[in-house]
Amino acid sequence: MSEAGSRTRGLFITLEGPEGSGKSLLGRALAARLEANGRRVLLTREPGGTPLGDVLRDVLLLRRELHFAPLAQALVLAASRTQLVQDVIRPALRSGTVVLCDRYVDSTYAYQGFGHGLALEDLRMVMRVATEGLLPDLTLLLDVTPEMGLARKQRQGATSPSEWNRFEAETLAFHNRVRDGYHALAAEHPERWVRLDATSHPEVVAAEAWHAVQQRLIEDPSPP
Ligand code: TYD
Repeated sequence: MSEAGSRTRGLFITLEGPEGSGKSLLGRALAARLEANGRRVLLTREPGGTPLGDVLRDVLLLRRELHFAPLAQALVLAASRTQLVQDVIRPALRSGTVVLCDRYVDSTYAYQGFGHGLALEDLRMVMRVATEGLLPDLTLLLDVTPEMGLARKQRQGATSPSEWNRFEAETLAFHNRVRDGYHALAAEHPERWVRLDATSHPEVVAAEAWHAVQQRLIEDPSPP
């Protein structure tokens, strides 16, 4: 399937991966390198990134006592994403800013699609409408097994499974489907995706990610 052209003046980079893959650490490292190279950078995350998105994030992740059908999850994620794209991402891209977004449409395809079994073509249609067709220029996949990622998350946050959010608390089989889903999505659009081994040292991961970003910056004609 071909992807709609999303090119605007800035550069739109998304970070994807299973739980505990180190996306937020990598986001901060990339933002620092971009800024050191004279680029304006916006680092944001999903679900969230706007006042409305932050409220929806809490409902979706933390209110585990609420039954939340996977399709309802996808539609709430779509609402949060619409607000983020309209209020934050598009204005930033128009002004030449590099946008780094921790999770975006591919998380919905991986989690609600591959993880929960919703039809990918339906999710793609919803997300095309929600984002008005805005796709990333580059997607970095931080690849790690669910066993390692969840153990890492537990160590870092010092949380017990009873405190995990709705998705962290899913079964290992679910998380394996999510990871396999990421591999399938990346294989479908190799021109947009770069896979990074998230088990490497964070500095190695950051250096490889920076290499991929630099290549896109060279192709990107927008001024710093
Ligand atoms: P978060 O605590 O930000 O986890 P992480 O550090 O792994 O990003 O929680 C976000 C959770 O929301 C994560 O478990 C994945 C899930 N999610 C979806 O299921 N679908 C989506 O479209 C998005 C954006 C997130």
